Amino acid sequence: VGESVQKPLLYYRNNLDSTLTVLEVMRAHNCHQFVFSSSATVYGDQPAPLYETAQTGNCSNPYGWTKFMIEEILKGACRADPALSVVLLRYFNPIGAHESGLIGEDPNGIPNNLLPYVSQVAIGKLPMLSVYGDDYDTPDGTGVRDYIHVVDLALGHIKAIDYSMSHTGVEAINLGTGRGTSVLEIVHAYEKACGHEIPYKIVGRRAGDIATCYADASKAKELLGWEATRDIDQMCLSSWNFIQKNPNGLE
Ligand code: UFG
Repeated sequence: VGESVQKPLLYYRNNLDSTLTVLEVMRAHNCHQFVFSSSATVYGDQPAPLYETAQTGNCSNPYGWTKFMIEEILKGACRADPALSVVLLRYFNPIGAHESGLIGEDPNGIPNNLLPYVSQVAIGKLPMLSVYGDDYDTPDGTGVRDYIHVVDLALGHIKAIDYSMSHTGVEAINLGTGRGTSVLEIVHAYEKACGHEIPYKIVGRRAGDIATCYADASKAKELLGWEATRDIDQMCLSSWNFIQKNPNGLE
């Protein structure tokens, strides 16, 4: 998100060009199924729970706008080609790692997202977590998000591919758990997973952050027969397992 504000053209060029190219190549090769990794960011700042019917657009950064624009491009492509099937998967906050510890996230530089930051504090690479604000209108004052285990997210994609094989047209589907978790709840769950305290300090709010964001996850259950089954403790345990096995990141 932050980088896209600094380098908007890079994001528009990369994300929009590649989508158009894939669509053209699909047409040339008679391929009709498209599962898109969209984001809850397309909803902007609206009251939770977020339903797929909520208005999209009004994004706060170029990264978000590319997700919105790609959704619009895909909707237009579907309107023009009745054989096309598009599933717009709107991810909430994917975290955690594969249980093998072989697949996980390894961001470049200092992590921006909460979980990779917490995991690097837990392993001792970073001294302390900064919690961005404890004065939000949430139960403990810290930001609330819908964290979803990456393995649940992956399984959602398999269901989406199956669905696209037997349907045409476009469907937007949230991939979330339907539950909100605060920053401090994440910190405490991670402490349980790693067995020691995570040092943190409360600092000011981060620009552009919203108080609360979580999904209504019922459409995925109804349409795809999918729901997330892994809880916050499993997400933190798998993240801790991954960072222990890869303390210097993926080589
Ligand atoms: N947070 C901290 N300290 C940190 C990092 C994050 O307190 O060091 C807090 C944030 O303020 C927020 C929560 O932890 O309350 C989650 O922040 P993340 O950066 O992990 O995730 P966001 O919800 O801000 O952003 C995510 C994805 C984006 C996506 C967005 C919209 O990273 O790609 O969700 O759904 F656009």
